[in-house]
Amino acid sequence: MLKKNEKSNDKKREKEIDKLIKKLTLDEKISMIHGASLFRSGAVERLGIPAVETSDGPMGTRAEFMNDRWIPSGNQDDMVSYLPSNSALASTWNTELAREMGHVLGAEARGRGKDVILAPGINIKRDPLCGRNFEYMSEDPVLTAAFAVPFIQGVQENDVAACVKHFVANVQETDRQMVDERIDDRTLYEIYLPAFKAAVQDAGVYSIMGAYNKINGFHCCENKRLLDEILREEWGFDGVVISDWGGVHKTKEAAECSMDLEMSIFPDFDDYKFANPLKESIEKGEISLDVVDAKVRNLLRMMYRLKMIGAKKDSRKAGAYNLPEHRKAILRTAQESIILLKNDKNTLPLDAKKIKKIVVIGANAATLHSNGGGSAEIKALYEICPLAGLKMYLGGNTKVEYVQGYYVPEKKANGSENWQAASVSEDRDPNLGRAVRDEAHEDENYRRGNEERLAKLEQEKKEVHEKNEKLFAQALEAAKTADAVIFVGGLNHEFDVEGFDRPDMKLPYEQDLLIEALLKVRKDTILTFVGGSPVEMPWREQAQAILWTYYAGMETGNALAKIIFGNVSPSGKLAETFPAKYEDCATAKNGQFGAWDTISLEEGAYFGYRHFDRQRIAPAFCFGHGLSYTEFEYSGLTLKAEKGKNIKLTFTVKNIGKRAGAEIAQVYIAPIAAKENRPDKELKAFAKVELGAGRSGKVCLVLKQKDFACFDEQLHKFITNAGDYEILVAASCEDIRLRGIATLS
Ligand code: BGC
Repeated sequence: MLKKNEKSNDKKREKEIDKLIKKLTLDEKISMIHGASLFRSGAVERLGIPAVETSDGPMGTRAEFMNDRWIPSGNQDDMVSYLPSNSALASTWNTELAREMGHVLGAEARGRGKDVILAPGINIKRDPLCGRNFEYMSEDPVLTAAFAVPFIQGVQENDVAACVKHFVANVQETDRQMVDERIDDRTLYEIYLPAFKAAVQDAGVYSIMGAYNKINGFHCCENKRLLDEILREEWGFDGVVISDWGGVHKTKEAAECSMDLEMSIFPDFDDYKFANPLKESIEKGEISLDVVDAKVRNLLRMMYRLKMIGAKKDSRKAGAYNLPEHRKAILRTAQESIILLKNDKNTLPLDAKKIKKIVVIGANAATLHSNGGGSAEIKALYEICPLAGLKMYLGGNTKVEYVQGYYVPEKKANGSENWQAASVSEDRDPNLGRAVRDEAHEDENYRRGNEERLAKLEQEKKEVHEKNEKLFAQALEAAKTADAVIFVGGLNHEFDVEGFDRPDMKLPYEQDLLIEALLKVRKDTILTFVGGSPVEMPWREQAQAILWTYYAGMETGNALAKIIFGNVSPSGKLAETFPAKYEDCATAKNGQFGAWDTISLEEGAYFGYRHFDRQRIAPAFCFGHGLSYTEFEYSGLTLKAEKGKNIKLTFTVKNIGKRAGAEIAQVYIAPIAAKENRPDKELKAFAKVELGAGRSGKVCLVLKQKDFACFDEQLHKFITNAGDYEILVAASCEDIRLRGIATLS
């Protein structure tokens, strides 16, 4: 609710905006609503209206580019803190860290002079092969919303706008600009929209990015249903809608719905749909000037909110980048994000005092990941890889021997231009800045690019196989000589990447073969993985200890070392299901992922844990799973109806082990009476509790009536059925510790 003086300030602001709009000429308005450079809109200096400076992205403020070319400017002043990816952040299940990471991102963006930071990415992970999953949080809408809200608030408290993306259901990279996703309303409202709605209504996000894909026949950036009916009318959004770069295809359709700012990857700024084509249509009377005024109004409102205009001089926060406290917060987040998947025989933690020699095996031990992945790439101030982290932790008295273990083909530089430009069309003259803007042509190029990439990956497999023989032998030999063996493998941004989906869910570079051989030589090999999305682990039964870390930012190596040597107990849990094999996934079964032209999201809500639950398929590691070096006991569940509507839930978690640790308690609702057409259970609340050895803590959570609701397509609203619901308090989706019944009247 707005306070009284906020309301009158709003009125004053709206009046000021009206006055400004009256003063603006058509040309000036047009200049404000499209890119005047790759990351900046047009300014109107005459009236003191600045350009809107945007920058990617979710893992830190991206390096500077030339105005009209995808060529990094090569400055030495645009290195920044490299933040944990959203997949790492969500694995902490600690929403305070979301606020802190949002704050760091906002402060750094502002420190670099930005107005809008193109983050966070909150798309729901429908299929583990989506190339951009590493940028997103979870397969679950409640968990995603719970992280999106504080993250956005953290960004925006720096007088920088978050731009939550990509609206909506940007579920695959294959054919990302043309694919038409068929989706029913119930799935949209229950799964794909909630986090965006929370971003708008609970976080007050100032801007939102329209996705590339189509939804039910219409591109998201010109989709009246999405942008007008849902976003503006149902949710009351009064901020700015920004197109994904090149997401606007048709002038009239985009202009006549709530798309405000057209950005693109092409440098022919005057030919953008919201440039000359829109101006001409207005002059001919084909499109009303009112639609332009509405866009300008939304932009000016954001500028007021950011104190870009209408504020006292120097009242806007200045931000700062690369602060030591940013790095501390990043380390804390990285530590809490690491997930201990398996730990038989207390293999972990290692006792540093007892170890004279460690062998570290695997290319990912010595790989930096910050400068890759697409628009989420970062020019990091520094990045501590796992090998460096281990050596820095141990010091000079412990011998740390490194062997590469498996071969990773060298990345061939693809010219001086960025992949982003190349990903859409090659047939253009970058000097003239004129692009081929013919969609069929772009599509053809994109398909060709995809085929070439798959062929390249196949070719590389041969190269890898040849080189691996020697590397495997070296690794196995070295493993025999050490007190402890740590394998660090996983993925990299050749696979976790914008623009392409992964071809399969296997570990690349024959890592499975090496791991199997290693486990025969050393059963106690600590298997550590860095990656952005689930992989198959066919050897997992034989393994004793498995650690998973998502791209966790500049302090990854330090965080990992602290976990491995027990300085910190692991406390991350999976925010997505790790299937045993890709074929078990809902989308693998229905074949509706990764196709061209059209896909049907016909599985509805039944993917991720909702699917594995319903089909009784055991995943390798389930949603919500993650171990600690200590153990927790749950007791004393009480459920109380509050104010006739909310259900207040209390229970106790006790640390029954010998070390301090943190537990993530999860609350799922399982309908009993009205279970027709509903998932077996759904996550509705969670809490992370930090507890010293032997200590217990009381957890209080509230379930609201809406947490029990499902979307009724006929009535077009959420309804809550009366009856009994089981309340499950759990340590993971499969590890239910306490049960109670709530009755809704
Ligand atoms: C990506 C966006 C990104 C934009 C600007 C697009 O290709 O999909 O996520 O913010 O480029 O770099």
